[in-house]
Order: sequence, then structure tokens, then C-alpha cells
Amino acid sequence: LKGDYPHFFLKEIHEQPDSIRRAIGGRLLPDFGTAKLGGLNLDKRDFFDIKRIHIIAMGSALYAGQIGASVIETLARIPTQVFDASELRYSNPIVDKETLFIAVSQSGETADTILAVKEIQNKGGRVLGVINSVGSTLARLTHGGMYIHAGQEVSVASTKAFTNQVMLLNMFALVLGRMRDVPLSRGKDLVKEIMAMPEKVEEALKCGEIVKEIAYKYKDANSILFLARGTNYPVALEGALKVKEVSYLHAEGFSAGGLKHGPLALICPETPSIFVITEGEYFEKMIGNIIEVKARDGKAIIVTTSSDERLKELADDYIKVPEVDELLSPLVTIIPMQFFSYYISLALGRDIDQPRNLAKSVTVE
Ligand code: M6R
Repeated sequence: LKGDYPHFFLKEIHEQPDSIRRAIGGRLLPDFGTAKLGGLNLDKRDFFDIKRIHIIAMGSALYAGQIGASVIETLARIPTQVFDASELRYSNPIVDKETLFIAVSQSGETADTILAVKEIQNKGGRVLGVINSVGSTLARLTHGGMYIHAGQEVSVASTKAFTNQVMLLNMFALVLGRMRDVPLSRGKDLVKEIMAMPEKVEEALKCGEIVKEIAYKYKDANSILFLARGTNYPVALEGALKVKEVSYLHAEGFSAGGLKHGPLALICPETPSIFVITEGEYFEKMIGNIIEVKARDGKAIIVTTSSDERLKELADDYIKVPEVDELLSPLVTIIPMQFFSYYISLALGRDIDQPRNLAKSVTVE
């Protein structure tokens, strides 16, 4: 039930601190700086044989997978690729015993992902699931896995399932990382950061009113660009998907580094850009990208974990979210994107929980 909320989409955005609490509940080992993931159905020793990881999914689950891949490569140094399941299924995928496949799905009923998993399994591959719906087709089909415990997600557009998928993949990366290069001290710090995430997301949710004003201001935009780098690049893709899906406005996510290679031609006052910026190695590069956009009369909406004053000066609109470890930052930077897609859709009078032409689970190819 929607309770006090006018839409499930808004309700589910606000449920994220609690759903993240469920995702991490009982799964962290603070003294050992790692996590304990019960249902993997793999002996820890099997992890030593993994030479590469292939993540398969569709839509928002695919973008959560891209964030997961970046975190796995950073912490565990295991080459990780992400595949669109509908493409993988027909691409005669290469399967061997050193590759671990991970299927990510909220519903566990997505036909493209199920068929890709069956193709891999028919070739003898091993597939784990990162699934929300308990007992779903994918949950039963996979060798083992991690339930994300997001609770029922009613709105067609995914919010809390996305953040919980990101959280589970972070914890999985931590387990793999601690078996390899990540020292105890860094593991302990990451566990602390993970434990703090429900409060950080709670804090991030306070941006709702500011984002509402910004969304109403840009409701007549031609198109909206989402730009980021690194672990947050998939957040840009997910932000654009949310806007397209719920508001029917055109939106596109790009790597900020890719701007000069084409998208810069789109910049004009009617096409605002949303920049996602965190502290760290990409910071100065992102500042450069904002300057490029402003120099071409583009509007810059800045979403950031950083308190650097330059961002406020450069921004046409400024949204601050709490500072967190770069690897976990997508969990807070996605919040303004979710609100933005909600309020722009509200301003345009869209059918927010049931966007035209879409179904909650895509059970046909
Ligand atoms: O149930 P799944 O996670 O497998 O669904 C995958 C996509 O269909 C889904 O994420 C879709 O893109 C959402 N509607 C996005 O908000």
C-alpha cells in the first residue's frame, strides 16, 4: 500500500534506508573487515579459481552490474565485464570453468536474462544470482546467490532494488577483495562505511525539496544529459533511464570524458546537463567538463559529495549529498536522480507508477 505517498515510486525512493538495512543485516563481519554471504553455494576455496567475472542483466539491473564490476575490479582485481543479457544469449558466449557468471534481476522473471542463463548453463557454466524475488525462476535456476531483500517493488521504475543490487555487489566485491589484496584495515573501514550507508542515504533523501524545484524548472527541456566518470558513470546511465522511463523526456547518459567526441554538439540552453561529481581522481577532470559546457551556454546541474566551493560557483543548480567512500558513492548520488525523474514526471502529469508501454517484469523477449 502507498500509505501517505501519492505514488509507489516516491514511497520506494523513501524506503531505501530501510531496504539497505535489510540488505546488509547479519551479513557483515566487522572484526574481519569482510562480509558473509550465506547462499552462494560455493566453497570459499572455489573463489581462488575465478579468473574473470561476467555479469548479465537488463535495464537498471545492468547498470547496477556495471557499478558492481567497477567495485570488483578495484577491490579484487578480477577482470569483470557486464553483458546485456539479450545480446549475450545470441552471441555464442565463451564459457569456461574459470569464469563466474552473475545474473542480476529484481523480478527474477526477465526472459532475456533467463534465456542467457540457460544458454550459459547448457554450456556447463556456473551462474550465481543477485535477485530480489524469492523463489522466482532465476532464483531457482541459478547455482546459488544473494537475495537483495529490497522487499516488494511495485513501481515499474526500479529504485530500491537498484540500490540493493549495488549494495550486494559491493559486499561480494569485499569478500573477494579480502581474499586477495585488500588488507584488514581497509576491509574494516569499508565495513564501517557500509554500516553507515542507511544513515547516509537517509541524509541524501533530504534533497527532495530542492530537486523538486530544479525538476519543475527544467520540465520543458529538449533533452537532459547525464555526465559522470568512474564508478558513477553507470549512475549517469541509470539517471537517464529513469528520466526517459517515467517522464518520456529524452535523456542520455555519457562518460564526461566522451563529451568532446560528439555529445558536446547537443549543448544549448534548452538541454541541461546533470553532472555527478565525487572527490577523488576524476574531480579536476569533471570541473574541466563543467567549464566546457558552461562556455557553450549549457546549464549545469551539479550533484556532488564534495564541499569544494568551486562547484557552487559553477553550478546553475547545486545538490549536495553526503560524503562517502567512492566505491559506495552511487548509493547516495542516485538519490537526486530518482527524485529528479519523479518530479519532472509529476510536473508533466505522467502516469508515474505505470509508464506507458512498459511492464514491471519483461517476461517475453
Ligand atoms: O526484473 P529485472 O531486474 O530483471 O528487470 C530488468 C529491467 O527490465 C528493469 O530494470 C527495467 O529497466 C526497469 N523498469 C528500470 O527502472
